[in-house]
Amino acid sequence: MIVVRSLRELDLPRHGTVGLVPTMGALHGGHAALLAAARPACDVLVASLFVNPAQFSEPSDLAAYPHDFERDAAFAAEHGVDVLFAPPAEEMYPPGFATWVDPAGAAEGLESAHRPGHFRGVATVCLKLFNIVRPQIAWFGRKDAQQVAVVRQLVRDLNLPIEIRAVDTVRDADGLALSSRNARLSADERERARAIPRALEARDAAGARAVLEASGLEPDYVEVADLDGPTLVVAARVGATRLIDNVPLPEGERR
Ligand code: PAF
Repeated sequence: MIVVRSLRELDLPRHGTVGLVPTMGALHGGHAALLAAARPACDVLVASLFVNPAQFSEPSDLAAYPHDFERDAAFAAEHGVDVLFAPPAEEMYPPGFATWVDPAGAAEGLESAHRPGHFRGVATVCLKLFNIVRPQIAWFGRKDAQQVAVVRQLVRDLNLPIEIRAVDTVRDADGLALSSRNARLSADERERARAIPRALEARDAAGARAVLEASGLEPDYVEVADLDGPTLVVAARVGATRLIDNVPLPEGERR
C-alpha cells in the first residue's frame, strides 16, 4: 500500500477501474465491509483518510474525533487498499478557499436540523475527493442513509461521471450499528444505546419513539423519510454521544 499525503504526489493510473472509499479514519468493521465490497470491483482501490473540519458543526465534536494514523494505515493495508490518500487540512482547504457545494433537497431536515452546515461540508469534500481521485465508483455506508442520498443527489445534479454504491450497515452482536462514536460510550451508556436498534425493530416512528423514551433516551428525531426508499431513521443522544441509525422499510410500510 502506498501512503500519499500530498495532492502533488497523487499519481494514479488512468487505466482500469479506480475505486474510492472515502473515510475519516477510526476504521472499524463498517469500513471493512466497504473495502470488501470495493476490492473485487476495482483495479486500484483508493481509501481517503481525512477528518473533514467543514462537516463538524460543533468544535468539541471535531476535537473528540479519534485520530490514530498508524492503526488506520495498518487496517487499510490489511483490507486490500492500494493507495491511502491522507492529505493535511491545509491542502484541502488552503488559504483563500471560498467555494462550497450547498445541497438542498435530500440534505434538508433530519441531520441538517441538528448539525447546521454538515452536508455542505460533506458535499464539498466529496466533490473535491471525486475530482482529485477521479474514481469510476465510490462506496458509502447505509448507516449514514441521508449522506448516501445527498451524495447520489450531488452526482446526479452536477453530472459527475461516477457510480455510487451503498453497503449495508454492519452491527455488533448486541445490534448496535458500528460507528467510531461507539468508542466514546461508557459501559452503562453502551447498554442504554442498545435501545436504538431495538427501536428500529418497531418499524414505525411512534413505536420506535416509545422504545427510545422507555429506555430514557431523548431522540433528536424519529421519522420515516424517503432516502432511496422509505427508511425509518433515528438520532439520539446517549450521554454526550450522538448516535444515528436507520432501517430501510419495504415500499408501502411508510407510517
Ligand atoms: O462518512 C464519512 O466518514 C464522511 O462523511 C465522508 C464521506 C468521508 C466525508 O468526509
